[in-house]
Amino acid sequence: MPFPQSVDRSLASPSNSIETTRLVLRVPQLEDAQELMHVFWDPEVVEQKQVTLYEPPGGLELALKNTNDMLGQWELRGYGQWCVVEKATARVIGCVGFYHPQRHWPGVDLGWAIQRSRWGHGFATEASTAALRWIWQNTQVDRIVSLIGPDDQRSIRVATKIGERFDRADLDPVHGGPVHVYAIARSTT
Ligand SMILES: CC(C)(COP(=O)(O)OP(=O)(O)OC[C@H]1O[C@@H](n2cnc3c(N)ncnc32)[C@H](O)[C@@H]1OP(=O)(O)O)[C@@H](O)C(=O)NCCC(=O)NCCS
Repeated sequence: MPFPQSVDRSLASPSNSIETTRLVLRVPQLEDAQELMHVFWDPEVVEQKQVTLYEPPGGLELALKNTNDMLGQWELRGYGQWCVVEKATARVIGCVGFYHPQRHWPGVDLGWAIQRSRWGHGFATEASTAALRWIWQNTQVDRIVSLIGPDDQRSIRVATKIGERFDRADLDPVHGGPVHVYAIARSTT
């Protein structure tokens, strides 16, 4: 099998989880695969290339592989992407966190994706603010980037609300389309 049947449970230690007013951010489990891909494979999001996918949407096997890749980031880097769980419903409503493949990526990337039915409630902002605080407190990482489609006003708004600023125009390392790089550095004060 290309992915393990169980996940290193130490990744799910409390120090890798975050609680905010309305959300819990926790390390994904393979059981989350379908709900996570439901978020990433939203047809309009895929059509507009709002998230970077290495492969077109597929079935359960691909969902498990992608979720396992997320866990690989946690194992390799000590940070990664979280499942965003809405406390009020205990449902996974999104995925927010850090992504840094070993090659072809211009830094440690903070990304966000929320299930369409939950857009517009400030969840992406709440989760990303907490994620940034976590990485400054728990790692030596000192600069974060987000690659955003030039016309993606929602994400640009999230980026600026959490303190990121436009850095430069660039190309997406995977699909080659135009992106704007937003960035934030660890505060030295
Ligand atoms: C981008 C995304 C995560 C935002 O999630 P969200 O929980 O709705 O975000 P928030 O509610 O925290 O903030 C959205 C902000 O954008 C604003 N906004 C919404 N639609 C907008 C539009 N068309 N133009 C400008 N701003 C817009 C909202 O008003 C809000 O700002 P405000 O709090 O100042 O009012 C969500 O739309 C999503 O998952 N999109 C698909 C995946 C994606 O694009 N990921 C980002 C890749 S870089």
